[in-house]
Amino acid sequence: MSALFTEEDSADIVAQSFAGTPDPRLRRIMDSLTRHLHAFVKDVELTEAEWAAAVAFLTATGQLCDDSRQEFVLLSDVLGVSMLVETLNHRTGGEATESTVLGPFHVAGSPARALGDSISLDGVGEPCLVTGRVSGPDGEPVPGAELDVWQAGADGFYDVQQPGVVPESNLRGRFTADPDGEFWFRTVVPRYYPIPGDGPTGSLLRATGRHPYRPAHIHFIVRPPADDPEGYAPVTTHLFAAGSPYLGSDAVFGVKESLVREFALVDDPEWAGRVGLPNPFRAVDFPVVLRPAGGVR
Ligand code: BEZ
Ligand code: FE
Repeated sequence: MSALFTEEDSADIVAQSFAGTPDPRLRRIMDSLTRHLHAFVKDVELTEAEWAAAVAFLTATGQLCDDSRQEFVLLSDVLGVSMLVETLNHRTGGEATESTVLGPFHVAGSPARALGDSISLDGVGEPCLVTGRVSGPDGEPVPGAELDVWQAGADGFYDVQQPGVVPESNLRGRFTADPDGEFWFRTVVPRYYPIPGDGPTGSLLRATGRHPYRPAHIHFIVRPPADDPEGYAPVTTHLFAAGSPYLGSDAVFGVKESLVREFALVDDPEWAGRVGLPNPFRAVDFPVVLRPAGGVR
């Protein structure tokens, strides 16, 4: 008879039950998960009432998930797990643009726009010019790179949170870098905002005295062109506004120092006229460096 369950040996005994898992990766994951879970339960001496509360919490989390809402990902975000998985799977070697969380407000297939277009369809907010250049690690341009961008507006909401209030695809669009890898578009300065707080994740933040806010940012997914001969990897990232509240305490731990940029106030009527913005306006430059698809270990 194999060893029976005891408090002392619980982790070993349960881990042993997974020892025959044919897939070696799954075997390693189940072994480590078992050992960490058992150590956690012993560390806090979990009560039966707490275990029942945890089950109810996870049940409510699952019940909020559907095609348009992913409460488990939001929970992973506020636990810092999304950022950890993102960071260790996208090591940059200090050269390439760092990545951050995707977040729940990305819309696949948002409208293609021409360089210089405005993504602010309602014109509400402080006018802003975003410029940049997509390159490889040695500075070589990546012509034809796609920049999928989306952001909250001056009121801190995404278009998908205000259907019928703002135009569809407000503050989002896809741009294609020019032959020199350069891109530019018009928008408005984003504002900090709270992550959705009406589910179990929001309850957790309130119960633990944490605020729900994210600092002001613009999301980017930058992809190499389909016929990319260099084999660059896409990057999911943000451009954060320097000086924004919550830069030091992002509810989802998404801020990396290299992604924080000044949205400088520009008073230059000639430049404003050339790019089709009222003077004065804000301007921010966000160079993007793609890494080789093989990654850095
Ligand atoms: C966002 O930046 O859109 C976001 C990211 C994680 C959780 C909630 C929102
Ligand atoms: Fe966001």
